[in-house]
Amino acid sequence: MKILVVGSGGREHAMVWKLVQSPRKPILYCAPGNAGIESLATCVPIKADDIAGLKAFVMREHIDLTVIGPEAPLALGVVDEFRKAKLKIFGPTKNAARLEASKIFSKDVMAQAKIPTAQAKSFDKAVDALAYLEQHELPVVIKADGLAQGKGVIIAATREQARQAIVDSMEKAVFGQAGKEVLVEQFLDGEELTIMAFTDGKTVVPMPPAQDHKRVGDGDTGLNTGGMGAYCPAPLGAAALREQVTREILQPIVNTMARLGSPFQGVLYAGLMVVKGVPYVLEFNARMGDPETQVVLPLLRTDFLDVIEAVVEHRLDQLTVEWHGDAAVCVVLTSAGYPGSYPNGIPIHGMSSVMTESTMVFHAGTARRGREIVTAGGRVLGVTGRGPTLKDAQAEAYKAVTAISFEGCHYRRDIAYRAFN
Ligand SMILES: Nc1ncnc2c1ncn2[C@@H]1O[C@H](COP(=O)(O)OP(=O)(O)O)[C@@H](O)[C@H]1O
Ligand SMILES: [Mg+2]
Repeated sequence: MKILVVGSGGREHAMVWKLVQSPRKPILYCAPGNAGIESLATCVPIKADDIAGLKAFVMREHIDLTVIGPEAPLALGVVDEFRKAKLKIFGPTKNAARLEASKIFSKDVMAQAKIPTAQAKSFDKAVDALAYLEQHELPVVIKADGLAQGKGVIIAATREQARQAIVDSMEKAVFGQAGKEVLVEQFLDGEELTIMAFTDGKTVVPMPPAQDHKRVGDGDTGLNTGGMGAYCPAPLGAAALREQVTREILQPIVNTMARLGSPFQGVLYAGLMVVKGVPYVLEFNARMGDPETQVVLPLLRTDFLDVIEAVVEHRLDQLTVEWHGDAAVCVVLTSAGYPGSYPNGIPIHGMSSVMTESTMVFHAGTARRGREIVTAGGRVLGVTGRGPTLKDAQAEAYKAVTAISFEGCHYRRDIAYRAFN
């Protein structure tokens, strides 16, 4: 069986790594992949959002199944295009992916499904948003409607900051088309949690809860990033809460999307704020999270390929998805200066020594230069440690991190700390 994984980050490295372990021994391809994925799959230089290029490759090489990592191709309709050509693909259609690609649409569906979420009002004219803002309590959250690479959400402590965010997004178009409409949203004060689920459009199978660390500095300080690390299972998402999220959030959303004629198939990611024990939805994503995937997938006991096929073939109700009982912690190593500007092409040392039973090094921004592996992005590597408990997993991860070095390497020293508070 030939499988193509689309994407080039730590998430896709973890997906490829997991698929390689399938007893069904699939032959793997990745587009475009990275220097780490290269050792597990044949990397082909097709960009993740080049739908025509991906489709031509899949037809030419007789690929049996395509698995999409990132949101951009989903929002562009890669799944619709592939289905039209009768090609097997894992991920939601363009309409279903609007749960992520339009925060306004997502709020609409949440309202219809009666799902607990921060109160919000949508605007397509800046004057109206600004007028509404004057009555709003502070802090207030301003959200660009569309995909803005994780930069479209501003938490404004003052009305002036909020005004600026509205003007930047709607009038100065700093997020392009994605910010033409905004949500003005109530600020929720609590602790964040990620619960992802596999769904075939009907059945929902939640994954163990994870928590990521968005801020660049220890103790959740400094600028926001794509994610500095993650751990799983997060104690905040204990079994009772996970059941509640499945029953009151994930299943109703999946049912509502089906009723609206856009059944959601793939991985549904719920970004939650838990306020005094009650989960509220901050956002949905239409794919796996990164770095969360790097701690959740290692804990999957059932063959990932079996799960993917059950989703694609609408028979998830017939599969028992099992998880290992241990824990995983992922520490992200970044280039100096990230999330600001940073250098590329810096040689990375010590990686080969740390691939063991209990540690994985997932590449995010790397490239090959001759025999060397060099940095090629802000987030360079995700180092995942596993162990019977979170403490053990954390120790494994940091032991491996100290063996790896490159000039200017930065990482947080406190990943998973919230689990121990
Ligand atoms: N209503 C809210 N109250 C408090 N914090 C929020 C709220 N909405 C978003 N955030 C914060 O902003 C981050 C990004 O928002 P999110 O809705 O996840 O958008 P995106 O991931 O697309 O940037 C969240 O992870 C959370 O930390
Ligand atoms: Mg988010």
